[in-house]
Amino acid sequence: MPAPRTVLLTGAAGGLGTLMRGLLPAYGYELRLFDVHPVDGEPDAITADLADTDALREAVRGVDAIIHLAGISLESTFDKILRANIQGTYNLYEAARAEGVARTVFASSNHAVGFTPRPRGDDPLIPVDTPRRPDTYYGLSKCFGEDLAQLYWDLHGLETVSVRIGSCFAEPSTVRMLSVWLSPEDCARLFHAALTAENVGHTVVYGSSANTRLWWDLTSARALGYEPQDDSEQYAEKLVAAQGPLDPARPDHAYLGGQFITDPPRWPH
Ligand SMILES: NC(=O)c1ccc[n+]([C@@H]2O[C@H](COP(=O)([O-])OP(=O)(O)OC[C@H]3O[C@@H](n4cnc5c(N)ncnc54)[C@H](O)[C@@H]3O)[C@@H](O)[C@H]2O)c1
Repeated sequence: MPAPRTVLLTGAAGGLGTLMRGLLPAYGYELRLFDVHPVDGEPDAITADLADTDALREAVRGVDAIIHLAGISLESTFDKILRANIQGTYNLYEAARAEGVARTVFASSNHAVGFTPRPRGDDPLIPVDTPRRPDTYYGLSKCFGEDLAQLYWDLHGLETVSVRIGSCFAEPSTVRMLSVWLSPEDCARLFHAALTAENVGHTVVYGSSANTRLWWDLTSARALGYEPQDDSEQYAEKLVAAQGPLDPARPDHAYLGGQFITDPPRWPH
């Protein structure tokens, strides 16, 4: 596959979309932007819902690849998740199939495996093929997206890298995030690797930086050529002093999904 240049970025108005709009052009990509909300300062962005199949078809026409970030990014009702994340992702893949877009990077989530106990002590890191244990309807929709990506590879030959993103913010803000943090710069490195690696079929990777306190195995991400440069450890002393260490007796500290296990933050719309 020739290296993609034109990339459709769905969810371009969101937190991660905004970070990637800043960082990905330096890798040589021309971004076409898509979101249900207008994108600040980007009058050419496509403002449409993932439910709008005609708009999606037009949005994917002629692009070399897709980065699919759009959707509900927190817990919500099943009906809302069904519409935005499940039907919406299906609509996007159907458009990609119809227009022959060869490669997608799918923003999956650690919440697809959120009910997996986190490693402690000398426990091995969590592999990508650990059984899925979603912690929310949100996490369940990410399991669906991964399976849809597998189906579209097996059935139609469309390639996807599903990235189980940890927490992508400028800085980690909790002790849990010391283990799952993905710096924005490393996220751009990972997306670039996912867009350019050869023969990915459907590959599942975890998305985090090279954190000292890492919980999951980055082998499949590194196999794409991803070389994370950041480590959350520089924030550890301050965060642990303020919040205390993780308490294994607390479910939100004992499982990968953190707060999503006990009290998931809810989509406000
Ligand atoms: N930020 C993280 O740390 C993180 C972690 C794990 C997974 N993810 C995933 O990455 C993606 C982006 O995350 P984020 O933090 O930027 O979320 P966000 O909520 O800030 O952005 C999501 C964007 O999707 C758009 N959107 C929602 N429903 C839509 C629809 N039906 N049609 C079109 N657009 C729609 C929203 O308007 C929003 O701009 C999400 O899929 C999320 O689940 C993010």
